[in-house]
Amino acid sequence: MSQGLFITFEGGEGAGKSTQIARLAARLKAAGHAVTMTREPGGTDSAEAIRGLLVTGETDSLSSTAEALLNYAARDDHLRRVIRPALKAGHVVLCDRFMDSTRAYQGYAGDCPLSIIDALERDVVGRTRPALTLVFDLPHEAGLARAGARGNGAKGVAEDRFERKGAAFHERLRAAFLRIAREEPERCVVIDASGTVDEVEAAVWRAVRARLEQGA
Ligand code: TMP
Repeated sequence: MSQGLFITFEGGEGAGKSTQIARLAARLKAAGHAVTMTREPGGTDSAEAIRGLLVTGETDSLSSTAEALLNYAARDDHLRRVIRPALKAGHVVLCDRFMDSTRAYQGYAGDCPLSIIDALERDVVGRTRPALTLVFDLPHEAGLARAGARGNGAKGVAEDRFERKGAAFHERLRAAFLRIAREEPERCVVIDASGTVDEVEAAVWRAVRARLEQGA
């Protein structure tokens, strides 16, 4: 059976992940890889509907625990319908956010008990853990400025519920992602997202190439 490669992109708001995922997908396709590009929360019809509940509306409309449960409901569907089938077909799967966003946003920066997140990660993600996670790191002021300039989502509705959570939340978030990277150094590579788009692309490619060579 062929084996794909699961790569996730994580980090705070406005770190440039989407631009870099598109560039990486183009490079991988040019090198002959089959690529599936997807995102969370989202990636299936049901998960995109759940995304609408999470990214719009008042910042306090859901507790951190409700957010974690909704993200995991979306993730379970996404894993079953998109991620696992693509990996089984031998694709490189590039996912814009995954399980570390729940741990960082709802667990370390929010107040969802880690016991809930640990259980969901173990039983829903199971063995489908990413082979490589690129953690985009940027001071939160710079990220929020970029995110604010990005405008509305596809339906013209501002997807900025988390962006509006305040500076202290976003400072905790940055520390949270760096903590995750420290805790799993064999899986995570921290990418300095403050460089130019070309510099960041080069750093992403170095990390991905190293992992592809390891797998070969
Ligand atoms: P984005 O991926 O377009 O930045 O928007 C998704 C938003 O949802 C972002 O603010 C991060 C947040 N989020 C969580 O809080 N927990 C999660 O598990 C995921 C996947 C995303």
